[in-house]
Amino acid sequence: MMRSQQGFGEGMAAVAVCGSAADRGDFAPACLRPGGLELTEDLVTLARLPRHARVLDLGCGKGTTVAHLVDRHDLRVIGVDASAVQIARAREARPDLGFFVGRAEGLPFARAAFDAVLVECVLSTLADADAALREIVGVLADDGCLLVSDIYTRGGVDVCPPSGLPSLGRREAVAGLLEGAGFRIAEWRDRSGVLARAFWDAAASPGRRPGEAAAESACTAAAAPSGEAVKRPSPRTGRRLGYFICVARVCARSEAPAAKGAQHGRS
Ligand SMILES: C[S@@+](CC[C@H](N)C(=O)[O-])C[C@H]1O[C@@H](n2cnc3c(N)ncnc32)[C@H](O)[C@@H]1O
Repeated sequence: MMRSQQGFGEGMAAVAVCGSAADRGDFAPACLRPGGLELTEDLVTLARLPRHARVLDLGCGKGTTVAHLVDRHDLRVIGVDASAVQIARAREARPDLGFFVGRAEGLPFARAAFDAVLVECVLSTLADADAALREIVGVLADDGCLLVSDIYTRGGVDVCPPSGLPSLGRREAVAGLLEGAGFRIAEWRDRSGVLARAFWDAAASPGRRPGEAAAESACTAAAAPSGEAVKRPSPRTGRRLGYFICVARVCARSEAPAAKGAQHGRS
């Protein structure tokens, strides 16, 4: 199987089947991602990944980034997504690549199976980002890194209105989240311009979701708003959103909280 050929450790186990569509994996999130592959390129540059590095694209959607990293950067990449529909699309587009249904909160990979994990516009959409980050740190090599792009809160009251975009919170909150899981931020870049651009593109493309015109793939959609909240602060909370990319390195294991995978005795 491709995954063992690529040396990613244990094969993918069946995804836990629960009640909701998301848990069953038969949902198809409408995905858009501000910045698209431009931000992926920036992350790869910041992380200085060596050729043939083992990379997991977690929440890979329809697989655009996986294909890009394999084709352009000669990295050994597989994609995992909770949506069976997205994975089917990814496999259809690129049957030669490794795409698997799986959940961030329970990664069925060996400890230290990857040199890098990429989470592009994924963490803010998760109900339990802490749990996902603990899983991620467990599957990363000791010198591994996490590549993140996501929405954060740049100002105002950090409360998500019912129809608002999810956010990871303020920059300090993002740092706290990552540090709590055993990472230290090595690089951080504000890229809020891509968020505004995504909404301008949407405005210029009637009938399209915000950002689709600008993005190669992916960001949240269940809660995608009209775009007004991004262009100007929410009238109720004054919340002002931005977009960032960051590279976080695994702390020395003795400094970090024990990873869940390690607690479960995976080898
Ligand atoms: C906003 S999209 C980003 C897609 C992709 N990273 C990109 O940038 O093109 C978020 C993705 O995360 C996936 N996802 C949501 N919850 C997940 C979970 N618990 N575990 C793994 N993937 C999840 C969704 O199915 C969706 O494809």
